Amino acid sequence: NENRIQEMIKRAYHEHWAIGQFNISNLETMMGVISAAEEKRSPVLLGISNGTIRHLGYSYIEGLVRTAEKVADIPLWFHLDHGKDFETVKNCVNIGFKSVMIDTSTLPLKENIEQVIPVVHFCKSHGIGVEAQIGVTWDEETGDESQEKTNPEEVKIFVESTDIDYLAFSFGNTPGRLSGYSNPDIKLLKEIADKSQVPIVMHGGTSVPDPDIMISISMGVSKINIDTLLRRAITDTFLSLYPNEASAPGDPRIAFKAMRNEIAERVGNRMELFGSAGRA
Ligand code: G3H
Repeated sequence: NENRIQEMIKRAYHEHWAIGQFNISNLETMMGVISAAEEKRSPVLLGISNGTIRHLGYSYIEGLVRTAEKVADIPLWFHLDHGKDFETVKNCVNIGFKSVMIDTSTLPLKENIEQVIPVVHFCKSHGIGVEAQIGVTWDEETGDESQEKTNPEEVKIFVESTDIDYLAFSFGNTPGRLSGYSNPDIKLLKEIADKSQVPIVMHGGTSVPDPDIMISISMGVSKINIDTLLRRAITDTFLSLYPNEASAPGDPRIAFKAMRNEIAERVGNRMELFGSAGRA
């Protein structure tokens, strides 16, 4: 049943393509992502970060969930990105999210597993897809660069003892990087993919070079998270439309629309690269 994200990701895993998770921060950014997905006939995950939960609050986010389900004519799911605790997971599931990440990756392995297990039980009993992480990546919100690449020896034990649906890990990716490229360790990625036995998730998708993305997908990456790409699209749009007050558009909707189009363009381009275009 491909109505469930778990099944769609398994399908991507077996067919060697990846579903994009694009993080949105309001109605307009959501519209840009949905229009790209519709144009490319691509299934899509709409990511909500802790920052967006703080920015919008659960009630407005619930409005986005209902609206998206009503208007979109492609398969889409809301996903909690880097959920910090069980409470946040429950709040998101209550407002209609179908996929969540519990990220307690900064804890030692045993404690990480202990935090993930109850979340997995809850999610399985509600039919929700669940992702967790081993290894620490650059902290997207604080900019903390201290990384600890995933130890491949811990992968099997983590996946087996938690029973998660998809696995996030650290292999030199740098989520939230505003410019330039990261230096992904593809050898490590392959080792992790071979040991994981579940689809794997690439965080920091914006700054991974295209050839590395392609090769990662062929090795088992089936979900790719993208946030900064949209942020850059927004910044570029506003900088070009508002170079100074004299030439600023009087009607802000001109800028919002240009921003939506720019997001749709860049997201659509990623859907082509990930091979999710034409799968809906
Ligand atoms: O979970 C979100 C992603 O890791 C975002 O990474 O901002 O580098 O695209 P990015």
